[in-house]
Amino acid sequence: MVNLTIDNRKIQAEEGQTILDVARKNGITIPTLCHNDALEPSGSCRMCSVEIGEGARAKVVTSCLYPVAEGLVVNSGSERVKNVRRTVMQLLLARSPESEQLARMAEDLGIHPEPRFKPSEDGSKCILCRLCVRTCETVVGVSAIGFSFRGPEKNVCTPFHESSNICIGCGACASVCPTGHIEMHVSPSGDVRTIWGRDFKMAACSKCGLYFAPEDQLTYISGRTGVPMEELMVCSSCR
Ligand code: SF4
Ligand code: SF4
Ligand code: FES
Repeated sequence: MVNLTIDNRKIQAEEGQTILDVARKNGITIPTLCHNDALEPSGSCRMCSVEIGEGARAKVVTSCLYPVAEGLVVNSGSERVKNVRRTVMQLLLARSPESEQLARMAEDLGIHPEPRFKPSEDGSKCILCRLCVRTCETVVGVSAIGFSFRGPEKNVCTPFHESSNICIGCGACASVCPTGHIEMHVSPSGDVRTIWGRDFKMAACSKCGLYFAPEDQLTYISGRTGVPMEELMVCSSCR
C-alpha cells in the first residue's frame, strides 16, 4: 500500500493503481472522455489532467495513466488543471460542435457555446479519442477500424475507406463514441443495419420475431464460443 494526498485528503491505495482509479474509489470526480473501465487507458484526450507535486515542481499529468506512489500529492481541481481542461474542451468542441456529451461536459466545466478555436471544416465529429478503435480491437476482437492520415486530416475509418469484410456490424464502436461521429442506421423494417458503409442483414428472434442482432455478429460469436447458432437466435427479452 502507498500513502498519498488527493485534494488535501490523506488516502491509502494499492501500488500500481492510477490516480484516476484511486480518486474514483474515494468519491473524487475527475472528468474523462477517452477512459472506459473495460479498456486499457490510452491517454488520448487529456481531460483527466490533474496537478501533482507542490510549488515550482508541480506538474500536470494525465490521471488515467499516472500511477500512485508513496507521498504523492495530487490536486484535481487547481486553476492550472481547470485551464488545461478548458483548453482541451475548446479544441474538442471546435472539432465536434454538435456532440451532446461534449456540450454537457463543457457546461460542467463552465465553458460556453462559442468555442475559442475555429470549428473544423471537414464536418468530422471525431475527437480522436480512440475509444471505437480500442473497443473493436480489444472488446469485440475484430480490429475492423483504425486511423488514417496524420495531423488535421487524421480520422477513424475502415482500411482504405472501403467496406470492411471483417466488421461484424455489432455497433459497439458507435455505442462507445462520445460524439456521434460513427453513423449507424437501421432500415424502417429493422431487417438491415448499415454501419461503416456496409449493410448487415439482421437476425430475427426465433421466439418473438424481433430483429435484434446482425447475422454476421451471431455467426462470429458462435464461432468463438462454440454456442450453436440456434441457441443464439433468441433476443435478450426472450431469453
Ligand atoms: S461494428 Fe464493426 S467496426 Fe464497429 S466495433 Fe463492431 S466489428 Fe468493430
Ligand atoms: S469516432 Fe468517436 S470513438 Fe472513435 S475516435 Fe472518433 S470520437 Fe472517438
Ligand atoms: S481520460 Fe485520461 S487522457 Fe482521456
